Amino acid sequence: MDAAGMERLEQELKRLKLRRVREVLEDYNRLAISQQLSHLDFLAGLMHEEVTARDTTQQQKRLAAAGFPMLKTLEAFDFGFQTSVSRQEVMELARLRFIDEHSNVCLVGPPGVGKSHLATALGYKAVLAGRTVRFTTAQDLVEDLYAALADGSLRVRMRALGRLDLLIIDELGFLALDNTASNHFFQVVAQAYEQRSLIVTSNRPYQEWGSIFASTTIATAVLDRLLHHVTTLSLRGDSYRLKGGMPPLPPAESPPVPS
Ligand SMILES: Nc1ncnc2c1ncn2[C@@H]1O[C@H](COP(=O)(O)OP(=O)(O)OP(=O)(O)O)[C@@H](O)[C@H]1O
Ligand SMILES: [Mg+2]
Repeated sequence: MDAAGMERLEQELKRLKLRRVREVLEDYNRLAISQQLSHLDFLAGLMHEEVTARDTTQQQKRLAAAGFPMLKTLEAFDFGFQTSVSRQEVMELARLRFIDEHSNVCLVGPPGVGKSHLATALGYKAVLAGRTVRFTTAQDLVEDLYAALADGSLRVRMRALGRLDLLIIDELGFLALDNTASNHFFQVVAQAYEQRSLIVTSNRPYQEWGSIFASTTIATAVLDRLLHHVTTLSLRGDSYRLKGGMPPLPPAESPPVPS
């Protein structure tokens, strides 16, 4: 091909936004000549390069958008330490059928037992499988929706949440929600009901959720929708954070000596 033809090809690849093809074209051309690739094999190889590069870029974008505070994987989860949860059940969840079925996962248990780890690891699997995921704490979620209410963008924010394949809400129950926050939380759950999937983690058993929300009516309505299609993992045991043993407590202050 002469220089003018090459220049035109470059421009047209640019126009078609085939960036990866442009990058590898020369190397691939040399490879095709040396290995006597057929025209079709040459084209197929180039297209595969482009598609793979685009998949990787999309995956990186989805991962960044998911906002995981830390990357945790199922491979790094020690099922030998955390025996109250069945590896088989978690691996079944990792096949992500629950997302296709628009059902939910709730992880309940005391501090440090691996709730956020498992929630993040399942979310990460979902990102790798091409799903759109967002990780947030309950606190950040309600603060975000409060801010959206204030600046008139609540509907837009809610719609954006409703477009996710999976919304992970971590740490529900650390703080009680006031009436507005409870209503916003209810709207998120109601919008996802039978349409999208939620993973919720909480250090409170369901019986105590009445005290998280502003009224038992809202708590009941949230639980009713969340638990209609749900897999609940109740984690028990010691905190993994204290695996090496509890650090010594600071010495108690001695009582003042009466003068
Ligand atoms: N079984 C486990 N195997 C490997 N790492 C674990 C396991 N359980 C917990 N961890 C690690 O211990 C730390 C605490 O776990 P995690 O944050 O998931 O706890 P949690 O149940 O969410 O606690 P909290 O209620 O305080 O938020 C994390 O760094 C996590 O990766
Ligand atoms: Mg946690």
